[in-house]
Amino acid sequence: MIGLIGAMAVEVEALMDKLTERRETTVGMDTFVSGKLFGQEAVLAVCGPGKINAALCAQSMILHFHPEWVLNLGVAGAGDTTVSIGDMVIAAAAVQHDVDTSPIGDPVGMVSKINLIEIPCDAALRQRLVKAASSLPDVKVHEGVIATGDQFINDGGVRARIHERFHAMAVEMEGGAVAQACFMHGVPCGVLRSISDQANGQSEMDYPTFTHLAAAHSQQVVERLLRS
Ligand code: ADE
Repeated sequence: MIGLIGAMAVEVEALMDKLTERRETTVGMDTFVSGKLFGQEAVLAVCGPGKINAALCAQSMILHFHPEWVLNLGVAGAGDTTVSIGDMVIAAAAVQHDVDTSPIGDPVGMVSKINLIEIPCDAALRQRLVKAASSLPDVKVHEGVIATGDQFINDGGVRARIHERFHAMAVEMEGGAVAQACFMHGVPCGVLRSISDQANGQSEMDYPTFTHLAAAHSQQVVERLLRS
């Protein structure tokens, strides 16, 4: 069994359509759809935006379905000016850019309890994702840090500060939370994002324009990954 989590329906709906032998399980406010996806046992969920929605969904998925790995897929804003709309970013690690207990002596971004700034993603899954993403025509693939926070970033200055501090290649709202839940349960994790906007003042226009295409790209990568 493998686990796939998107924040919004558009980020998983193409995969949901391909799921056979479907079964629905509700846990709290999360609905998990399990079945066969390209010949493999899989469970899919739409967690809703933000870190708490994502962490709760990932933890419920882990406890109820015991996936061998969990992938958070979908769209993101660019974290760096070298990353363009339509590019893919695959996380080597995820950070939570809005965590800050520095007034009491911690480094900015350190997540207490696990005491990490960079939450590592599974190296083997990451390699498979890079291979699958690189097989998509005309898509540039980046590997690096993905930065998560409970904010839609729509300001070039804010984006630049997140990049300077964490070397983020993409900014989004769930990956770091799914990675933390997986880390705390010892489950391998991946984060795969396709860029829908530049996380600058243009994002309110670019995001609705490019989200559909970007979301389709990340689901095509998952299809190639599972078929390989
Ligand atoms: N998801 C897609 N674009 C984003 C942005 N600019 N900020 C946060 N999450 C996003």
